[in-house]
Formats: sequence, C-alpha cells, structure tokens
Amino acid sequence: MRKKIVAGNWKMNMTYDEGQKLTSEIVNMYKDEAVKDVIAVLNPPFPHIFPVKKLIGDTPGISLGAQNCSDKESGAFTGEVSAKILASFGVQYVILGHSERREYFKESNELLASKVKQALAYGLTPIFCCGESLEIRMAGTHESNVKFQLTQSLFDLSPEEFSKVVIAYEPIWAIGTGKTATADQAQEMHQALRRHIASKYGKEIANDTSILYGGSANPGNAKELFSKPDVDGGLIGGASLKSRDFLDIIKSF
Ligand code: G3P
Repeated sequence: MRKKIVAGNWKMNMTYDEGQKLTSEIVNMYKDEAVKDVIAVLNPPFPHIFPVKKLIGDTPGISLGAQNCSDKESGAFTGEVSAKILASFGVQYVILGHSERREYFKESNELLASKVKQALAYGLTPIFCCGESLEIRMAGTHESNVKFQLTQSLFDLSPEEFSKVVIAYEPIWAIGTGKTATADQAQEMHQALRRHIASKYGKEIANDTSILYGGSANPGNAKELFSKPDVDGGLIGGASLKSRDFLDIIKSF
C-alpha cells in the first residue's frame, strides 16, 4: 500500500536540549494537527535515538528513523551502528544512500545494496536516496543516472523485499541550496522511477512504492509538490529543524 510520508532528516544538527525541544514541539503539535494517513518520521543523529523515542512514545503517526546503518550485522567495526542495534531501540526507518554519504563517505551502490539487506533483515524500512548532480542534469542523463542507482542497489531484492523499500528522489543541486526542483521536474523523475520499478517488479509493486521528494522542500512549495500523482511525500532537511515548518509541510497534503 502506497504511504504518504514526510521524513525529517536532521543531519548533523541539534544538541541534546535542542533535539528534545524540537521533538516535544512536534509531538505536541502533531497530537492536535495530525494529518490522517500521513506518517511523520524523525531521523535524528544517533545519540538522540533513545531520548527521541521516549518522547515520541506511542503517538500515532510519528515514527523514529536513523540516518544510516552499517552493512555489517555486528562485530569489531568501531564507530559503526548496525541495523540490529537500531531495531532494538525501536527505530523503524533508516535513510540509506543519501548524496552526502555517497560524496563525503564514498558509499558505493554495492555497499548500499548490503546496507539495504541489513536494514530489511532487522525489520527496518529503508528510505533509499537517489538523485543527480547539476552536471548530470545539464548533460540530460539524469533519468538514466537515478535508474542506475536503483538497479545497482535494489534490483537484486526479491519482490517481497523490494515492496518494503521507500524511495527518495533528491536532486543534489536542490539539497540545501534553496533551489527546489519544480513540481513538474519532480513528477517527471518520480514517474520515471516508478516505471523503472514496474519494469523489474511489475505495476502493482511499483504503484505501491512510496517515492518521496527531497531538496529544499518547505511550507511554501510542499503543497504543489505533493499535489503531483507520483510524489508521495518528502524527505526534509533544513525545514525539519523547525517544528512549525515541519508540521506545515505535513499539512500540505
Ligand atoms: O535528506 C533531505 C535533505 O537532503 C534535503 O535537505 O535542507 O534541502 O531540505 P534540504
């Protein structure tokens, strides 16, 4: 079943007190302003996982996510955090393949395939990111670029495994730049991704796959973005660090 999801990627932001304040505001506002059938996911840095989970409690419609996980199950991998450990803390989603991790930490499509497998093995829902650089878009090969990312990292999954994955299309040139893709550009790429998924897994699984948009989404553009038939929500960076903006984006459906 295709779900409407608005995930907040805090990235490397928020001290303990700031994270507690933001989460408390979101939870309290969500209780009064929740939008039916929209799932909000909070993806804080790792140290926040336990205290944020405590504040979320059993608030309907709000889930906890992480921003990464290891491709290993456990062992001598200093500094790493496994899907197994995240699941034990009640984490339900994990962002994988974010362009910042591909760029700064050289995460390959092959490594990401292993990370997705680990996440699925421990019941986490991967939010798998794909997206093109400005150079690739200017060259006109942006569609083949994102299709390749999916093929290399996801297309070895069984149909049952793939059906548990959420996709996030994040044009790199729109991340943190204030330059959002137009709603038509987002729709074009989401439709292409859905067709690519259908070519491998069939129309039913493709139609049931949630495809989120990320890249300078905010309360001013979310309504138009979410109005597009193949845009099922957003992966929000900067605007997720402000409770009012994050709720207003959720209410944009
Ligand atoms: O993962 C979402 C993020 O990359 C988008 O960042 O600040 O452009 O919303 P931002």
